[in-house]
Amino acid sequence: MVNVLVVGSGGREHALSWKLSQSELVDEVYVAPGNGGTSQNIPISVDDIDALANFAQEKSCFTVVGPEAPLANGLVDKFIEKGLAVFGPSKQAAQLESSKIWAKEFMKRNDIPTADFEIFDDAQKAKEFVSTYEKQVVIKADGLAAGKGVIVCSNNDEANDAIDKILVKKEFGDAGSKIIIEERVDGIEASYIALCDGQIGIPMATSQDHKRIYDDDKGPNTGGMGAYSPTPVIDDKLSNVIQEEIIAKTISSMSKEGIEFRGFLYAGIMIRDGKPYVLEYNVRMGDPECQPILMRLNSDLYKYLKASSEGKLNDLSEISWKDESAVCIVLASNGYPNSYPKGDEISGFDNIPQNSFVFHAGTKNDDGKIVSNGGRVLGVTALGSSLNDAINNAYNVAEKIHWENKYQRNDIGKKGLSYL
Ligand code: AMP
Ligand code: GLY
Repeated sequence: MVNVLVVGSGGREHALSWKLSQSELVDEVYVAPGNGGTSQNIPISVDDIDALANFAQEKSCFTVVGPEAPLANGLVDKFIEKGLAVFGPSKQAAQLESSKIWAKEFMKRNDIPTADFEIFDDAQKAKEFVSTYEKQVVIKADGLAAGKGVIVCSNNDEANDAIDKILVKKEFGDAGSKIIIEERVDGIEASYIALCDGQIGIPMATSQDHKRIYDDDKGPNTGGMGAYSPTPVIDDKLSNVIQEEIIAKTISSMSKEGIEFRGFLYAGIMIRDGKPYVLEYNVRMGDPECQPILMRLNSDLYKYLKASSEGKLNDLSEISWKDESAVCIVLASNGYPNSYPKGDEISGFDNIPQNSFVFHAGTKNDDGKIVSNGGRVLGVTALGSSLNDAINNAYNVAEKIHWENKYQRNDIGKKGLSYL
C-alpha cells in the first residue's frame, strides 16, 4: 500500500483524490492545501515546493500535481532530485503551457497543426502588422496569466486595445512582455487529454468545456463553467487523427528535442472543416473536464499515474470507461470571473443520488459548516445513460444546493446534444 499526496485545491484535485482513494493499492490520500470537500488537508501552499517535498518524504507519498503553476516552477524536477515518486511533467516539458511562444514555435518546427502566428514585443510593430493582416486575430500574452491572457478580437480596434493592454499597460506584468498575434480560427472547440509516459500517450475519454460565463457561450472567458464526456464532436475517426497528428507527434517531437513528456497532455482543439488545430497546450488535467472524465473511469487511476511517471504505460491493460455520459455543472459565486463575495454558508449536500457526486472547489470547512471561498465553488457531476439523461441528473442535484450568491449556466451539455 502507498500513500498519495495530491497538490492543489480545486475541483480537479478533489476529483483526483476521490478517484485515487478508490484504488486498492492506495492507503492514505492527503491533499495540499485542499478545500472544504477533501478530507485529509495539509496546510501547505502549492508554491512551497520544499515543504511539500518534506511532507511527501515523511509520509512516503506518491505525489500527484494538479495545477500548472507548481509544474512550471519545477516541482517535479525537485522531487526527482530528492528521489521522491511524483506524477507530472518536468519544468522543461511544462513550457508547452508556461510559454505560449515556446509552444507555438515548437508546433511550427514540428509540423503540428496550429493557427498561423507572429511574435511581437513592440506595440507599434504589432499594430502595423494587424493593420495589414487580412484575417481576424487573437492576441495572447506569452506567459501564465490565470486564463485571462487571451483576447479574441473581431476587428482592428479590439486588436489594438488588446496590444495596449498587454504590451503598454502591462496588465499581465512579465507574462505579457511578448505577445503572439495569431489567426482567429472559428470552429468547434473540444478538449483532448492524453496520459503520457515519455514514449506513448493513451487518450482519456473525450470532453467539451464551456469557457464563457453566460449561456450560449456569451461573456468573458472563465476557467470553465461546466464540461461533459464523451463529446460527439470528436468521433473515432477524428480521435485517431488527433492521436496521430497531435498527441503522438508532440511526444515524439519533444523526445527528439531531448525532453520527455510524462503526465497529462491536454490539447485545446479547434475543429474547422473537420480538421483539428491546437489552440493551446496544457500540461495537466482540465478543470472541470477532470470531473466528468474521472466519473466515467473504471480503471485504477493510481496504476496509470504511477506507470506514466515510470515510463511504463505499455505494461498496462487497456484503460476502461463506463459507456454512460457524465456532466459537470460548475456552481460559481455571483461576480466570477471578476470579484465575488466569499463566506456564504452552503446547504443541500444531503441525499445526493448514487449516480452523482458534488466535487468541491472554492469551499472551506468553517467549524463544520461549508462556506464559499472562491469563484468556482462546486462541480455537480452526474452520470446518465445518455448525454440528455446526464444533463437532467446533474441539474436535478444542482437545484438542491443553495447559497446566497450561487450562479450557474443553464445550458451545460446543450451544444453536445446538437451534434447527436
Ligand atoms: P486559451 O487560454 O489559450 O485556452 O484560450 C482561451 C480561449 O480563446 C480558447 O478556449 C478559445 O475559445 C479562444 N482562442 C484561443 N486561440 C484562438 C484562435 N486562434 N482562434 C479562435 N479562438 C481562439
Ligand atoms: N477547463 C480548461 C482548463 O482546464 O484549462
